[in-house]
Amino acid sequence: MMTPKINICCIGAGYVGGPTMAMIAAKCPDCRVEVVDLNERRIAAWNSDELPIYEPGLEDLVKAAKGRNLFFTTDVESAVRRADVVFVSVNTPTKTFGLGMDRAADLRFVEAVARTIARSADRPKIIVEKSTIPVRTAELIHTILAHSGNGMRHQVLSNPEFLAEGSAVADLENPDRILIGGESTPEGREAMQVLVDLYAQWVPRDRILTTNLWSSELSKLVANAFLAQRISSINSISALCEATEADVDEVALAIGADSRIGPKFLRASVGFGGSCFQKDVLNLVYLCEHFGLPEAAAYWEQVIQMNDWQKRRFTVRVIRALFNTVAGKAIAIWGFAFKKDTNDTRESPAISICRQLLQERAVLHIYDPKVKPEDIRSALGVGEGDPAVRVAEDALTTVNGAHALLVLTEWDEFRSVNPAQIFQQMMKPAWVFDGRNLLDHQALRTAGFRVEGIGRAPLPGA
Ligand code: NAD
Ligand code: UGA
Repeated sequence: MMTPKINICCIGAGYVGGPTMAMIAAKCPDCRVEVVDLNERRIAAWNSDELPIYEPGLEDLVKAAKGRNLFFTTDVESAVRRADVVFVSVNTPTKTFGLGMDRAADLRFVEAVARTIARSADRPKIIVEKSTIPVRTAELIHTILAHSGNGMRHQVLSNPEFLAEGSAVADLENPDRILIGGESTPEGREAMQVLVDLYAQWVPRDRILTTNLWSSELSKLVANAFLAQRISSINSISALCEATEADVDEVALAIGADSRIGPKFLRASVGFGGSCFQKDVLNLVYLCEHFGLPEAAAYWEQVIQMNDWQKRRFTVRVIRALFNTVAGKAIAIWGFAFKKDTNDTRESPAISICRQLLQERAVLHIYDPKVKPEDIRSALGVGEGDPAVRVAEDALTTVNGAHALLVLTEWDEFRSVNPAQIFQQMMKPAWVFDGRNLLDHQALRTAGFRVEGIGRAPLPGA
């Protein structure tokens, strides 16, 4: 049997840990990769045929490596002991209490992992921060490890993850760049080289960037802040378009053609969601405040405020159009995930929009191709028998008797629905509020709908 070149352990078997390690195992067959988590249900799911997360291409990737050089287990300490390299891929949510509440990152899971490593390691390790963390977190990890009392000197590297959900496998296979930060000591450089060599097995060398630890840690927060800022920028313009009969998609096309601006990430929407944009921008705001930079903090905070406004604005448009009341009215909701091709609903704009409509006493008929009904109900805080929320098994069922159809996630399958067929089943006048500008608005209008998109003048019914 071939001796594995590197033993890898990844602590945290979530949206990042699972797919990232599956890719490493697939591309580096001589590495042995163990993904560990305290959550037994999650590990059991990774070990079953029904993976805990949905990502196009992930099932095949995992299947090919599982049991060969990819393993999922709850035995964290043994896996750490076996490993040469330990990736830390635990969650780093926004703090919900105390100092820095609603802004700072809650680092208790990172700290717990550092203590586990300090306790279990019987030889020096390379510890890799994969989680998104505030700049200078490596110092925290270092300090805990240095006080373990066993005199061992571990290396801490930063290697943030830039994959987007829904395209995780493609992003991991062909990343724009891999970022690795480390200490500029001989030991630090040696540790960085181990990680560079690992990625270089499938990523072109010129796409692997090495920096100092703090630049790498900070760059992850800044990348997400810049991406979120682009969406808030185009969403702010969508409001102006609605007031002036300019079309936001045409404006995006026109400005995106300037190579200095570029065409990506200019899709106006109901607002951005996902587990990271909001938490990472808030974390940046907190850091700016912490380092005495209130003007920089206020600048970035506006990105979040604009996003909250965009979600509220959409719901208010729906209520106003439906004669200022949605009480007792059925409303069809297409899409609940925060974007297409994922079953993740964390911070999905659909949650705040649906909650606001429920406060207005609307009756919601919801359909999402990948989100489980129980996850939809739990995100909305309603029980299975609650008459205010009905979760449907297909898109068509939701529109029966509905006054309006809201498109909240850009799933491809929604495009193929026949407008005349859905119009027929709905109350009249019937509206479509397309929060993703996904459907063919002219075709909807011809079928008889009143149509309101994002950043477009409303189309009255034909
Ligand atoms: P997640 O919540 O899906 O997974 C984290 C896992 O860590 C959980 O299963 C949890 O049980 C486990 N965990 C927590 N403490 C543990 C401990 N002490 N020992 C063992 N396991 C423990 O989170 P995620 O979406 O995978 O994100 C992980 C990190 O990666 C976050 O910092 C996030 O900001 C960052 N990130 C996420 C994405 C994304 O698309 N989701 C992309 C890039 C970066
Ligand atoms: C985002 C980043 O794109 C990743 O690089 C990063 O690694 C990740 O966050 C993270 O740190 O967690 P993700 O949130 O998975 O990835 O998905 P995105 O494609 O960025 O979409 C985020 C939200 O913005 C979605 O709700 C999406 O619908 C919305 N969006 C995106 C728009 O409204 N308009 C756009 O033009 C693009």
